[in-house]
Amino acid sequence: MCGIVAYIGKREATPIVLDSLKRLEYRGYDSAGLTVEQEKRGPFVARVAGRVGKLEAKLVGATLPGTVAIAHTRWATHGAPSERNAHPHGDCRARIHLAHNGIIENHAALRATLIANGHRFSSDTDTEVIVHLVEERFRGTLEDAVEAALRELRGTWAIVVLSADDPGKIVAARNSSPLLLGVGSGEYLLASDASAVLASTKKVVYIEDGEMVTVTREGFRITNVDDAELRRRLVEIPWTLQEAEKGGHPHFMRKEISEGPEVVENVMRGRVRGGEVKLGGLETVSKRLDHVERIVLTAMGTSYHAALLGELFFEELAGIPAEVEYAAEFRYKRAPLATRNTALFAISQSGETADTLAALREAKRKGMLTIGIVNVVGSTVARETDAGLYNYAGPEIGVASTKAFLSQVVALLLAAIFLARGRAMGEREAQELLEALIRIPDAIRSLLKEENEIRALAKRFAHYENALFLGRKWSYPVALEGALKLKEVSYLHAEGYNAAEMKHGPIAMIDERFPTVAVVPDDSVRDKTLSNLEEIRARNGPIFAIATRGDRGVSSIADGVISIPRTHEILSPLLAVVPLQLLAYHIGIARGCDVDKPRNLAKSVTVE
Ligand code: AGP
Ligand code: GLU
Repeated sequence: MCGIVAYIGKREATPIVLDSLKRLEYRGYDSAGLTVEQEKRGPFVARVAGRVGKLEAKLVGATLPGTVAIAHTRWATHGAPSERNAHPHGDCRARIHLAHNGIIENHAALRATLIANGHRFSSDTDTEVIVHLVEERFRGTLEDAVEAALRELRGTWAIVVLSADDPGKIVAARNSSPLLLGVGSGEYLLASDASAVLASTKKVVYIEDGEMVTVTREGFRITNVDDAELRRRLVEIPWTLQEAEKGGHPHFMRKEISEGPEVVENVMRGRVRGGEVKLGGLETVSKRLDHVERIVLTAMGTSYHAALLGELFFEELAGIPAEVEYAAEFRYKRAPLATRNTALFAISQSGETADTLAALREAKRKGMLTIGIVNVVGSTVARETDAGLYNYAGPEIGVASTKAFLSQVVALLLAAIFLARGRAMGEREAQELLEALIRIPDAIRSLLKEENEIRALAKRFAHYENALFLGRKWSYPVALEGALKLKEVSYLHAEGYNAAEMKHGPIAMIDERFPTVAVVPDDSVRDKTLSNLEEIRARNGPIFAIATRGDRGVSSIADGVISIPRTHEILSPLLAVVPLQLLAYHIGIARGCDVDKPRNLAKSVTVE
């Protein structure tokens, strides 16, 4: 979704906020803009439809010594992507300027009232109602006006505001959309996420829902809706700026696929010892977990596919009934189940997905124990769940999730073993599985070395317009994930399907122009999937298989095979998904797509 940035300090603000906007580009956007405070004159505003680079070009020749600025990359929800709808938006006198991430649900009624009161609107956005409300409430102190305006809003927001009539100040507020404050030496940055502030500081303060922060060069004050001042400790961001860079790879996506081995190591670090799994993040609720009789996993997109594996882990290892729900569905369903002994696992890389947040809040209202599996430290899901595990996958900049998926699957596996060891799983069984898990990073490293074969396969694949991805049991979520990756980064139509289901319809599509990617490791359901592949072959359908090294049965009927090392069948998804990530990446490249920022996609969907 969009990116919000603001700077106040001693340095020239414009280059700082422009650089920060560039670090937020990965979040997906369609337009950009900034407002810079000016002495003796109204604020300077520049906005463009398109990339931050275009905004930068528009500023060439402008003299902007101002040390206070706000800036924004917009992902349109109300009003077409255009310069007039780009943020920041100004009030009637262009003295107050505001940028916003989120949706104001009651914008229409507010706009009608404000127009009736004589306000003139210059955009079609929902956002603009906020700045006119602030204008209407302004009596000389910006934070008082913002606070009064916020009381009239319904919806979601992260906003930054400045005013020429109360200079040297930025007021920000948050309700559901992410916002943090970077604390430098005598300077402050506000932003949607840490990668936008890392060039200036690693020390941040997270702004919570319902809070407002007033920032001047002298310091900052956080208040809640009752105007009570809140103390908030500084958090040190564990990421270096380089980590957020590409590390020498051509694309963030390729860098992040190569980080797979260390990501699997990181999510295990300090949590696995012999046959024991230690999860400090769950210890605090271990009593309630002992009584859990049912688990609901909720997520969207790639995280949903990880959740499907989590369901199998919880049922097969811990013997706890589990079900996966799309967050967007769960939040509107009546919960028939007794909720006291139900644990909800919310899986979210960004920790800011609107649907997942809403489902989490619904589960809390129903009295469920809520556990987060989250990658972004301090994100909303992380702070609103009763307990949880961080993936520790590091910043995932590529819009298509790759390393985060691996870390989510391992985190869920560790949680399942943690629960299973409190139930029927013996130490020996746990130790065997964990020893196999410890070997996974090196197995992935060996897979990454076979990239040239995968690139060659991608070249053969790139001319197709459709693809069917098949898998059973442990490999079914992998088939879904492989299809999603291919769709996201190559815009090719790809469908993930349970291999058993293939005969109940999809086989009608099969002919020589319609390839199948089969995830068929040597596991307990391999032979069944092999029969499906025979049926496809009999109809001249091209077959590309992910198979266990040396499986001649598969290589005798497939047109192309990517081999993976033999491993415990429960762990096969961690290996099978890597060639599919690379296959999607190279097909996307071959088709000239922007694999890091695919069209129409956003890294974090913070609107419903
Ligand atoms: C994954 O490649 C996609 N970018 C998308 O499906 C993503 O997984 C989904 O939006 C959920 O995001 P989250 O994990 O941050 O909640
Ligand atoms: N709803 C606002 C708009 O459409 C903000 C969208 C965003 O979060 O970028 O302008």
